Amino acid sequence: MKTKSSAEPLIKQEGQELIFDNLTNPRVVSEFIDILNITLNSNNKNLILNFKNTKAAFPNISVPMAGIIENMIGKGITFEFYYLTEYLKKLSIKSPLRVQENKKLAQKASLDKIWRFDSADDIYLLINSFVDELSQIIVCEKGVLEGFEWSINEVLDNVLQHSSRSYGYVMGQVHPKTKHFVFCVYDTGQGIYNSLLTSSVHKPKNPVEALKLAVKEGVTRDKKIGQGNGLWGLHQIVSENTGILNIISNSASYNLTNNKFKTYDRIPQLPYDNGCIVDFQIDYSKEISISKALGGYEPVNLKMESLEDNIGNINIDLQSKESGVGTRKSGEKIRNELINIYKQTNKNITLDFTGVNIVSSSFADELIGKLVTNFGFYGFNNIFKLKNMNPSVQSIVQRSVAQRMMESFNGKKEDQLDDTSSDSD
Ligand SMILES: Nc1ncnc2c1ncn2[C@@H]1O[C@H](COP(=O)(O)OP(=O)(O)OP(=O)(O)O)[C@@H](O)[C@H]1O
Ligand SMILES: [Mg+2]
Repeated sequence: MKTKSSAEPLIKQEGQELIFDNLTNPRVVSEFIDILNITLNSNNKNLILNFKNTKAAFPNISVPMAGIIENMIGKGITFEFYYLTEYLKKLSIKSPLRVQENKKLAQKASLDKIWRFDSADDIYLLINSFVDELSQIIVCEKGVLEGFEWSINEVLDNVLQHSSRSYGYVMGQVHPKTKHFVFCVYDTGQGIYNSLLTSSVHKPKNPVEALKLAVKEGVTRDKKIGQGNGLWGLHQIVSENTGILNIISNSASYNLTNNKFKTYDRIPQLPYDNGCIVDFQIDYSKEISISKALGGYEPVNLKMESLEDNIGNINIDLQSKESGVGTRKSGEKIRNELINIYKQTNKNITLDFTGVNIVSSSFADELIGKLVTNFGFYGFNNIFKLKNMNPSVQSIVQRSVAQRMMESFNGKKEDQLDDTSSDSD
């Protein structure tokens, strides 16, 4: 396959029309800013954005693009969108979703969407939704969900605390093939350099210095407001996971990959609203020791605590699960959630079937059948307790588990198993 030379532009420009082949290379954002700078100084301030060829979109490109577009509209540039693919429509790249107007959607499907948050309440709702959705769709190693929750909180709060704007943008995406998830946060505020320059004792010499300072422990623009833990902690958590962190602010970028950092100092800027991009990637198949990352500090996991009874067991009330007890998808979501809870707490889990009159066989297989094969019969019995199951549900579960165990036994099917069992004596 022919690879593009670095000189060849990624955005093809034909008059006022910009054709985007991909939204996966960060260079697209830089090229877009260059074009906007020219457009701001020209008479024709109408741009056509053509996404006909755009197959994939990553958060670190889509989020800043959407934020920049929304803010440039206020500066007199108009945008027309051509050929938005279904995925780009779903992302809401044209107009980032307001949390307050889309609360239900945020709670149901928060990933693969560009959100605009305008308050601490929005941040709280979004983070809960991200953590819930992640824990239902993927199995994360110990420390990953807590590390993520801690980090995203810090980054989103920084926007409200330091950006000089009262809003920002965020999107998350899961890449199951490589077992990573990525989140990008963008604001159109003053940037890290300006924030440290104007109000701190640190007085960075240039934007790169500012980013190197910001990820150090104890560096804050104002000791009365912050402690300088946020970006340092994020850097530690990403580093403990050998993940990737990018911070781009003003004309500087800071990249951490394989625990080595690189900086760069010639990122194109707009005449105003340069803001800050924080983008990080976590390998969810790799355990994170939070207390090691945060120098002995272990955040309290309020969510896990709220599930515990007075003797420290976790109770899950199946009746309250919104996804229901009828579908394979719902069984899978609840199974992932339970495995994640177990990985986080190492505690016994009681599944309470009170009020559940009937379950589908596929739900039973996906939830109980696969948990038994995942943990093994002995492991399952040691961790899980099934409570208040009526006789009909009992027989459905019994059958699903029996089938699943037979199938998993040597990876062979029922009829093949019959053959083997007659051989073995
Ligand atoms: N989005 C942002 N816009 C502008 N400046 C920022 C932004 N995020 C961080 N900064 C700057 O980087 C500094 C370090 O951020 P960090 O989160 O590490 O510490 P803090 O927010 O000051 O304190 P803490 O996170 O412990 O409450 C901030 O004090 C601020 O000057
Ligand atoms: Mg902070």
